[in-house]
Amino acid sequence: MSTPTEPVTDAYPPSAEFAAQANGGAALYEAAAADREAFWAEQARRLSWDTPWEQVLDWSGAPVAKWFVGGKLNVAVNCVDRHVAAGFGDQVAIHWIGEPGDTRDITYADLLAEVSRAANYFTSLGLVAGDRVAIYLPMVPEAIVAMLACARLGLTHSVVFAGFSPTALRSRVDDARARLVITADGQWRRGKPAGLKSAVDEALAMPGDGELSVEQVLVVRRTGQDVPWTAGRDVWWHETVAEQSPEHTAMGMDAEHPLFILYTSGTTGKPKGIVHTTGGYLTQAAYTHHYVFDHKPGVDVYWCTADIGWVTGHSYIVYGPLANRATQIVYEGTPNYPDEHRHFEIIADRRVSIYYTAPTMVRTFMKWGAEIPAAHDLSSIRLLGSVGEPINPEAWRWYRTNIGGDRAPIVDTWWQTETGAIMMSPLPGLTAAKPGAAMGPLPGIAAQVVDEDGHDLADGDGEAVGYLVLDQPWPAMLRGIWGDPQRYQETYWDRYAEQGWYFAGDGARIDADGAYWVLGRVDDVMNVSGHRISTAEVESALVGHSGVAEAAVVGASDATTGQGIVAFVILTADAADADPATVVQELKAEVSKEISPIARPRDIHIVPELPKTRSGKIMRRLLRDVAEGRELGDTSTLVDPAVFDAIRAQA
Ligand code: WTA
Repeated sequence: MSTPTEPVTDAYPPSAEFAAQANGGAALYEAAAADREAFWAEQARRLSWDTPWEQVLDWSGAPVAKWFVGGKLNVAVNCVDRHVAAGFGDQVAIHWIGEPGDTRDITYADLLAEVSRAANYFTSLGLVAGDRVAIYLPMVPEAIVAMLACARLGLTHSVVFAGFSPTALRSRVDDARARLVITADGQWRRGKPAGLKSAVDEALAMPGDGELSVEQVLVVRRTGQDVPWTAGRDVWWHETVAEQSPEHTAMGMDAEHPLFILYTSGTTGKPKGIVHTTGGYLTQAAYTHHYVFDHKPGVDVYWCTADIGWVTGHSYIVYGPLANRATQIVYEGTPNYPDEHRHFEIIADRRVSIYYTAPTMVRTFMKWGAEIPAAHDLSSIRLLGSVGEPINPEAWRWYRTNIGGDRAPIVDTWWQTETGAIMMSPLPGLTAAKPGAAMGPLPGIAAQVVDEDGHDLADGDGEAVGYLVLDQPWPAMLRGIWGDPQRYQETYWDRYAEQGWYFAGDGARIDADGAYWVLGRVDDVMNVSGHRISTAEVESALVGHSGVAEAAVVGASDATTGQGIVAFVILTADAADADPATVVQELKAEVSKEISPIARPRDIHIVPELPKTRSGKIMRRLLRDVAEGRELGDTSTLVDPAVFDAIRAQA
């Protein structure tokens, strides 16, 4: 967790013009304050329900909430069919842009046909509501079609980021016991095809946890590269799904039916399968997308740059925007292919009006230089968003000036995989946003910043740093960790068990004006370019290498990526004589291979010892001090403070 460095005194209210046309204003806060459950019922009415709910919230089974109890609705119908039925079949849902420059414009009518075909094919495989499907795809339209087809049938999807390793894919497939894996032959990465089907083959061939649950592998042809084929198990999308009828009648699902599982890093090496359900999730995704982005269907061109492998892609590429009949950009590739102009060319070309990205992207743009956005007509932009990590005030101001033309409001949105949808953000037509602050809970959401004992810090001098807690259940909240209710209880609820609050794992501060500043994780979770990676996961990948006896990993501040992964390793006697530079290269490659290139350590230091407390716990705080080149903090609980001289000498 970083501590506030510079005092921020500037604030940016929306222009009168923006405020006048905004979807939401002060009345929204008043309505939510007057009657929270009635407010959420009102929000749920933006969806089409097959069966109305009997009860808005049932919290009697806390910490597992039930929202809109007894209600039934179909998520895919809400995201697709109802727009076509209302006469918007010809509206473009997705302007898809491939990395090599190929494009596809997909209307809501097209999407309905595609989703129906996929649903018919999944049904023909014998998949039934409640079964799990793993989706391991790049940013191609079929990824969205597959998610919606699962939702249509009540199949619980588990999207695995296509940058994850075969090992990571296999552990997720096993944990959820997925019956079907959907993948592609390969994916484009900076002009080159990279294999993806080969990674699935490797994943399914390795020894896993119990008998292999996968019966079928469905492969989308994207790069055209040669792929190995297992007859009877592997099928092509274009030979199966594409041949199905474009008509399919959907059924309503229970509001609490599990819509998806999404794995995220926790404080141990084993990722947590976060479970989200149907009615409450879609309600909050649609509500937040409408008000936070001030979205106007049929008018705005919306672009969220996340990957569907992360929660941001689930809630703000797939479910929120499509429920709200958005027209959006989906871009397959990297922002600097063929060059650094790519995003700005797309914005100018397609007249993008709402652009939602991560602070690390903004800082990368800053590094590339303001002349790059300046070379394009970005006048269509009317709102900017930020997500994934704290945005430093300097990057915020740069974003507003150079991409937002000094006029577009910025919404800094705080939320998590677990919260399912945005929890804190300015309301763009109302809030005078301060650079770097998520400002406060949205209408209908409750959050506090408290100390270790649960005392509210809001009324202090505005300097005290505490823990962010969510003190009321919210519709899109996780319903648990897949297969591990005890871990759910321990991770989020034990810390403030007496009060019954959700512990978010973030440090925060409320300033004298009541604005919330989220400062970053307070647990052993790192945030690298907005990706959550646990220190334990990287440590376990490192000790998996035969030359490593022990490893400790910390997240150190990094000017571009927010945090960088810094590892300290002790080598085994056998490896001690090897060339250190070679060992370091090998270890970095090992972590990329075991987890993903996103988890590759920035620095690896070979050290003779690690600092430990008397109870044997590695003192990461001290290692962070070393990694960031600071004076050492309190070393009094250390067994042998002299280890630092040795570490410093090598680091
Ligand atoms: C961090 C991403 C500050 C935070 C949606 C949180 C943020 C974690 C912000 C969740 C923000 C996300 N300001 N910090 N606007 N948004 N975070 O699960 O530490 O990938 O706990 O969800 O990202 O990351 P996750």
